[in-house]
Amino acid sequence: MAITTGQLIQWKQQGRSIVALTAWDYAIAQLLDAAGVDLILVGDSLAVVLGYETTLPITLEEMLHHAKAVRRGVKQALVVVDLPFLTYQESISQAMHSAGLILKETGAQAVKLEGGYPAMVETVARLVQAGIPVMGHVGLTPQSVHQLGLRQQGKTQEASETIFHQAMALEQAGVFSIVLEHIPADLARKITQKLNIPTIGIGAGVDCDGQVLVTSDVLGLGEKHPPFAKVYTNLRETITKAVKDYASEVRDRQFP
Ligand code: KIV
Ligand code: NA
Repeated sequence: MAITTGQLIQWKQQGRSIVALTAWDYAIAQLLDAAGVDLILVGDSLAVVLGYETTLPITLEEMLHHAKAVRRGVKQALVVVDLPFLTYQESISQAMHSAGLILKETGAQAVKLEGGYPAMVETVARLVQAGIPVMGHVGLTPQSVHQLGLRQQGKTQEASETIFHQAMALEQAGVFSIVLEHIPADLARKITQKLNIPTIGIGAGVDCDGQVLVTSDVLGLGEKHPPFAKVYTNLRETITKAVKDYASEVRDRQFP
């Protein structure tokens, strides 16, 4: 049975932690799904795999292309796709159109969008009313990099209260889950205790209802990774060694 948004909410109630990772193509998605990951996010961090500096340049077309490939690799996990920068902030109708294309063309079950300010909460409510499951994302929101940088958010009392209220407003609007990115652990714990829907943390401490990381960070594929990521293996080294071994065998006429 494929995992549903309702299942995630049940797992929160049962205290079963939710495992989430990002994917960008069929091969990676198939591996993560078979390894038992609960939620696979086609994050706009796909930008990094495509060689962009920030998430801002990614287009809806690029997200659709990669999300279709990911979806083909997944049997169990819930597949969530990020709405890219400026494909949902302009108006409710723009958000509806973009989210609709993602659900209709990729077969993903949900979309994720950034921000918990009043206009975005209204957009979320309208998407949810139309039958589109939405995941929220507050704290460090990388699409606002030119305003926020990549610093931890919610450090002052005021900023902390703003994020807390954004999370509550998003739950009210009907999100099935919220990503809490790079905020103090005690703020993430307070939000997690307050909400009925699961929080998925990234750089937000151990008390979230689940954790997400960018898979290229976990695998050590990227050139750099954020301070809160844990690098579980170094695929850059593994791949470099394999390629160099192959190259020398070809040059020495040892292969084939
Ligand atoms: O794009 C992404 O990978 C994300 C996760 C870091 C939550 O939004
Ligand atoms: Na993202």
